[in-house]
Amino acid sequence: MSYQIAIDGPAGAGKSTIARAVAERLRYIYVDTGAMYRAMGLYMEDHGIDLSDREAVEQAASGVNISIEYENGAQQVILNGENVTGRVRTERAGMLASAVSVHPGVRKKLVQLQQELGSRQNVVMDGRDIGTAVLPGAQLKIFLTASVAVRAGRRFLELQEKGQKADLVEIEKDIEQRDYQDSHREASPLTRARDAVLLDSSELTVQEVIDEILKLCAERELL
Ligand code: DC
Repeated sequence: MSYQIAIDGPAGAGKSTIARAVAERLRYIYVDTGAMYRAMGLYMEDHGIDLSDREAVEQAASGVNISIEYENGAQQVILNGENVTGRVRTERAGMLASAVSVHPGVRKKLVQLQQELGSRQNVVMDGRDIGTAVLPGAQLKIFLTASVAVRAGRRFLELQEKGQKADLVEIEKDIEQRDYQDSHREASPLTRARDAVLLDSSELTVQEVIDEILKLCAERELL
């Protein structure tokens, strides 16, 4: 039997940083499901497919091959044979992912892939619907959140550190739009699973959040 830890929450709550660190500590694999939706969004844009056209998107998605590989422990996203790990990490790819993820046919395909990954080995998986739809039997579910202002501020600093142009007001607007879109879609919207532990990271450091999750893992004998 494999052990599963599900971490869900809105954009910019720090899920990937935290999930990666927890996975490393537990020697579980880390699965970033957002990267799969981002790859799917990029594919649609590359092929000129209108993201609001459900039929066209679902038909195109059925022929797309997305897979996950690990290189020195780091997740690589492979889109039809091409490694797109670097390409998916842009604000644009995040917006495309949010738009493509509303379509049930896209979700069905990616959820199946995620469930296969979660059944084969011990995983920490992060996303929007991991505790509710992908791994409903996970031994530990976390709903990680933070205020919009805090999330936007963190993203702003991250972009600045990378030397990229950043506009705080613009980032806040994008985060609000993505929150709305992710939590109002019909198919598996972003919601806290009833048995998920709510963690608000607004006033916590990354290390404090990691420590809190490791404490919960120890209580459930996942360490
Ligand atoms: O976690 P992220 O920012 O990489 O996710 C990008 C988008 O993908 C997010 O706005 C909504 C969608 N997504 C989803 O619908 N379900 C998931 N499990 C993960 C991401």
